[in-house]
Amino acid sequence: MTPGDWARRVTRPGPPVGRAARGTGSLLVDNIGELVTNVADGDGPLGLRRDAALLVEDGQVVWTGPARDAPAADRRIDAEGGAVLPGFVDSHAHLVFAGDRAAEFAARMAGQPYTGGGIRTTVGATRAATDDELRATVRRLRGEAMRQGTTTLEIKSGYGLTVADEARSLRIAAEVSEDTTFLGAHVVPTEYADRPDDYVGLVCGPMLAAAAPYARWIDVFCERGAFDVDHARAILACGQAVGLGARVHANQLGPGPGVRLGVELGAASVDHCTHLTDADVDALASTSVDWTSGAVTTTVATLLPGAEFSTRSPYPDARRLLDAGVTVALATDCNPGSSYTSSMPFCVALAVREMRMTPAEAVWAATAGGARALRRDDVGVLRPGARADLMILDAPSHLHLAYRPGVPLIRRVLHHGVPQ
Ligand code: NIG
Ligand code: FE
Repeated sequence: MTPGDWARRVTRPGPPVGRAARGTGSLLVDNIGELVTNVADGDGPLGLRRDAALLVEDGQVVWTGPARDAPAADRRIDAEGGAVLPGFVDSHAHLVFAGDRAAEFAARMAGQPYTGGGIRTTVGATRAATDDELRATVRRLRGEAMRQGTTTLEIKSGYGLTVADEARSLRIAAEVSEDTTFLGAHVVPTEYADRPDDYVGLVCGPMLAAAAPYARWIDVFCERGAFDVDHARAILACGQAVGLGARVHANQLGPGPGVRLGVELGAASVDHCTHLTDADVDALASTSVDWTSGAVTTTVATLLPGAEFSTRSPYPDARRLLDAGVTVALATDCNPGSSYTSSMPFCVALAVREMRMTPAEAVWAATAGGARALRRDDVGVLRPGARADLMILDAPSHLHLAYRPGVPLIRRVLHHGVPQ
């Protein structure tokens, strides 16, 4: 069967049931000390406005402006002088899993290296879990993330690695996220260890057909010990042929061809980017087109500092990417092996302290950058027409997210305009 045949067989999912506050009237958020809009006509890259207010209706932002000009509204939330930011857009997470790998973390802290081999441990536990057990974990972690300000959350499969287990992972993920990613090519499972070509055939054939109805994206772990560049190219091309967007786990454990493959295929994002050559950086920079022109060809470099933290590895050089003009996003990589954190504030703090990003760059990367990595313009920004996804901080400015690491500063979260 050709990719075109698969394209005709699969059907696209509708988005999960919306939770917009329809028919509940207007909601004014006022007494905002600092409003981060990420709209270029504000002050600096974050589009900062002071003494601002914001009006929400039907789950969308309908107005932002000076508090003194605020329109009347049915309800009001007093931000008490706190900063208001777009909700975080966590564009890389692996939440559908079972089991615990805390002992693997402890062994790493005692000097063991991270190789990705522990993925197979989680695959065993995930296959043995019931749907409800997997669903409970996804919902628990999504709730945890939401309380820390994450209002958009990409979720990958990749711990099932059979046709049925990948399809059910994505079905469960699609219950809570519009951005679901088929990662059947996470590692070659044990039962295919001596015939990886056959596994790639399974991924591109029946597994893709079963997964695609629940997925928006396809991803491959292109790394020594996982999938080589030819397999990765074939898998991503099959996914693109049935309408999935490409993303790549690339250059995490060492230099390699993953980043350039992602650029070649027009991937929305290449993720990790820990070990980059000048050619990788140049390739990414060559995709950094002007977003206002409407041509969406940018391949975003998504950096995942939680993984370097938890594997005691050198952090990616965000400064080098930013100085070259590359669009950078920050995400958690939340997974039970290499990065078991759902906290975007933690990643922002790491990026500022360890990766030479300014607080403004890190906040932008964790909000608007994540949105670009998911090729979305309705989130990661607070302007009329955007989704009313925002957080109110117990702090006067965005600087405090990095300045006060580990402190629960997210006082309130609105998702689709609904207080959480
Ligand atoms: O992004 N690198 C591949 N996948 C995950 C790790 C998964 C695991 O160790 O369970 C990552 O780091
Ligand atoms: Fe990952």
